[in-house]
Amino acid sequence: MACLKLDARALNGLWNADHWERELSDPRRICVGIAEGSDNLSAVACGWIVLDELQITVVAVDPEHRRQGLGRTVLKQLLLDASSAGARQAFLDVAEDNHGALALYGALGFHTIGRRSGYYRNGKDALIQSLELQTDIKLN
Ligand SMILES: CC(C)(COP(=O)(O)OP(=O)(O)OC[C@H]1O[C@@H](n2cnc3c(N)ncnc32)[C@H](O)[C@@H]1OP(=O)(O)O)[C@@H](O)C(=O)NCCC(=O)NCCS
Repeated sequence: MACLKLDARALNGLWNADHWERELSDPRRICVGIAEGSDNLSAVACGWIVLDELQITVVAVDPEHRRQGLGRTVLKQLLLDASSAGARQAFLDVAEDNHGALALYGALGFHTIGRRSGYYRNGKDALIQSLELQTDIKLN
């Protein structure tokens, strides 16, 4: 499955095949991807909508295609799709030392609203970030 291949390259195998299957088949979940050909996924962003909230579960870009705007493109499209489906606010967790992701999220208007202390296996904190979808999405 293309998602598993990208997961292995971009996220060091975060999710297994069952997890991806659930992510892609559950109607409450939405995923946006950019593919090269039929089996090569370059970027993906996924989340699930509960009532009027989007919880972003994954944003990943193939290491060979980073800094080309793909992360911004898939995340922005996910936010727009979620907004069209009725979501008013988006949330995500990001490691405090993930400077690339923090720069991307900041550029789209996300701001930190909380912290989960020692959340990751390496002891790093997770920052909880949020974005008001109706007002805060930066489209440029
Ligand atoms: C984070 C990630 C999704 C960014 O994807 P990307 O396609 O490289 O990002 P983009 O090219 O769309 O970057 C958009 C903007 O975000 C910022 N940005 C992205 N990566 C950056 C980095 N490594 N360092 C600094 N700023 C960065 C920049 O402002 C960039 O704009 P610019 O290139 O015009 O300066 C990608 O690095 C990735 O897959 N990382 C591994 C998985 C991961 O950490 N996911 C997030 C988990 S919370």
